[in-house]
Parts: sequence; structure tokens; C-alpha cells
Amino acid sequence: MNKERKLIIAGNWKMNKTVAEALDLVHGLKLELSGVKEVDMVVCPPFTALSEVSKAILDSNIRLGAQNMSEHNVGAYTGEIAAVMLKEFSVRYVILGHSERRQYQKESDALISKKAHAVHAASLKPIICVGETLAEREDNQTEKVLETQARGSLAGLSKEQMAETILAYEPVWAIGTGKTATTAQAQDAHAFLRGLLGKMFDETVARRVRIQYGGSVKASNARELMSQPDVDGALVGGASLEARSFGDIIKNSI
Ligand code: 13P
Repeated sequence: MNKERKLIIAGNWKMNKTVAEALDLVHGLKLELSGVKEVDMVVCPPFTALSEVSKAILDSNIRLGAQNMSEHNVGAYTGEIAAVMLKEFSVRYVILGHSERRQYQKESDALISKKAHAVHAASLKPIICVGETLAEREDNQTEKVLETQARGSLAGLSKEQMAETILAYEPVWAIGTGKTATTAQAQDAHAFLRGLLGKMFDETVARRVRIQYGGSVKASNARELMSQPDVDGALVGGASLEARSFGDIIKNSI
């Protein structure tokens, strides 16, 4: 597939996989994906598996991401993980503001923006998630919600930082439900977000930023979604937990 931006497909393993299970999965992925150069491929295991997964993918084309990070650098923040700790394991990407964290940990756009600044200060790349609920979509609030979340979560980033930021459009109603956004719904939301980036930053930045789609992505719908002009990759949950299904999503997207 000939795209303006290089596709980036990431697996968000969420709270799944012990170290042993994580190693099984990455060994499978290395076999499935050894020849792939066309797509940036990322796995985001739970923190407890970062160390071992990092070693296992050292000699591969797979990169490492984390699922969250503290906005602080060091200190008395029980249960938190700082950027410098992630860098020990050669983590390159950090998912921020996933809807599950917005919902269960009550993360606000202001907090996500602080985290985004901390991620950039450490020369890591944030994957910042935005997306509307079903009630918001049915109430025709999708664009308003996306704009509020994007303006809040990306507040204060420089153009250079924004160009190195990945956005993930994840409609909450499509996450883990088996209900994927139609290609038109995905393209419309992505085009809206890119237009917004043009207003918030400039056209050059807007053209450079990669926007992933997330929400029930599977091998059977990946190709159609990735063929949309403003869809530059995927953030995959459930289907990233098996080497075959994640591998097929990537192969079908090329
Ligand atoms: P599913 O692919 O399981 O719907 O999850 C999507 C997601 O939340 C990725 O971050």
C-alpha cells in the first residue's frame, strides 16, 4: 500500500500476559514478521514484562512501547513509573490517555498534556488517544469531543514535538466490542483531527502526524481501514494478543 506516511501498528496488550506468556508471544511475532520493513511495528506489554520483552526483541524489527508513564521524573509517587525507568528498557513509545485510563483512573486532558511533555522531554514518542463514547456520537458531539480532547491533551507542545507525536483515534464504543467504525466513520474522524492539527500547529505538522485507528481492528478489516488516506496505522487490543492475528493485521496492511 502506497501511503503518504509510514504506517505504525502497535499492540496494546493492556493487563494481559505474564512474563512467560509475553515471551511466547514475541517469539511468535519475530517469526511472523521477520521480513517486514514497510510498517513501524510496536508492542506495548505491561510494565512487568518490559525488561524481558526488551531483550527478546533487541535483534528484531519490533519496537517497544509502554502503556502509561508518570508526569513526574522522580520521587514520592507510589506505584508510578518514570521516563528514565522506561528508557532503561529501550522503550520508544508511550501510550497516553487511553480511554480506559480516562474512565477508570479519571485521567484528564490536563494530566495527559503534562505526561506528553514529560514523554517528549525524555525523547520518547507519545501515542495520545482520543475518542468519543456512543452517547456522544449519537448526540452528534463527536467532533466537539475530539477537539476538546486534542486541544487539552496536546496543549503547549511545540511544532517539532507534535510532528513526533502519534495520535490514536479510538472510538470508545468500538473498543473490545467487536464493533469497528466503518471506514467512512474512521476517515471522517481522522480527517477532522488532521484539519484541527493544521489549525493548532500548521499544515506541515498536520501532514506529518500519524493518526492510528483503534477499536476492534482485526486481520479481516485492517486492509480496508489502512487504505483510507488519513488512517496511518492501528492501535490493536485483543487481536494483538496472538502472534498469528497481530501478524496478519500487519501483513494485510502492507
Ligand atoms: P480492541 O482492539 O480490543 O478493541 O482494543 C482497542 C484498544 O483499546 C487499543 O488501545
